Amino acid sequence: MQLEKVFANNEIWIAEKLAADPCYFEKLSKGQSPEILYIGCSDSRVTAEELMGVQPGEAFIHRNIANMVISIDLNMMSVLNYAITHLRVNHVVVCGHYFCGGVKAAMQAKDLGILNPWLRNIRDVYRLHKTELNAIPDENDRYNRLVELNVQEQCINLIKTAAVQSAYKERGLRVHGWVFDIQTGKLIDLKIDFVKELHGIMEIYNLG
Ligand code: CO
Repeated sequence: MQLEKVFANNEIWIAEKLAADPCYFEKLSKGQSPEILYIGCSDSRVTAEELMGVQPGEAFIHRNIANMVISIDLNMMSVLNYAITHLRVNHVVVCGHYFCGGVKAAMQAKDLGILNPWLRNIRDVYRLHKTELNAIPDENDRYNRLVELNVQEQCINLIKTAAVQSAYKERGLRVHGWVFDIQTGKLIDLKIDFVKELHGIMEIYNLG
């Protein structure tokens, strides 16, 4: 793609928005009140807004390799705390996707340089669920299952944070785990039982 095309596309987009509503950008500049924080993968095929059909202003977005929630990642934790405390979102979503390159890389036993510390967190998910994963004979099925388990573990990492725990108590904030199926375009809700998971980990991680 030519970069000149980006600016030409932008002009077209502006014209379309203004044709539908002459005050569109004026309204947009007034502020945002998104209902959800979406944490997804940086993968260019998994376009957060497009796959959810949301408009500018409707979803607060954070993307990184393999949709990870790591407690010492200042970027992730700043986004989370800003979204919950200031924007007051009521839903936090972790959205993984099948055929995730980050998850695939973590499944290979090899040195990937600077990516090692990041992928370590996915390898830890594998270790936690090794018995289940190793019992899956087909490599693709095992790969896709690790994508799902990784989403589940990142949801649990969210539940371990003080921000999520206090917003749950205060206003019933919920955490959701989704997977985007690149082969069909379908968004799948893993139906993680947020309240059960929360109570399950409170014994150790209660920060309230
Ligand atoms: Co990915």
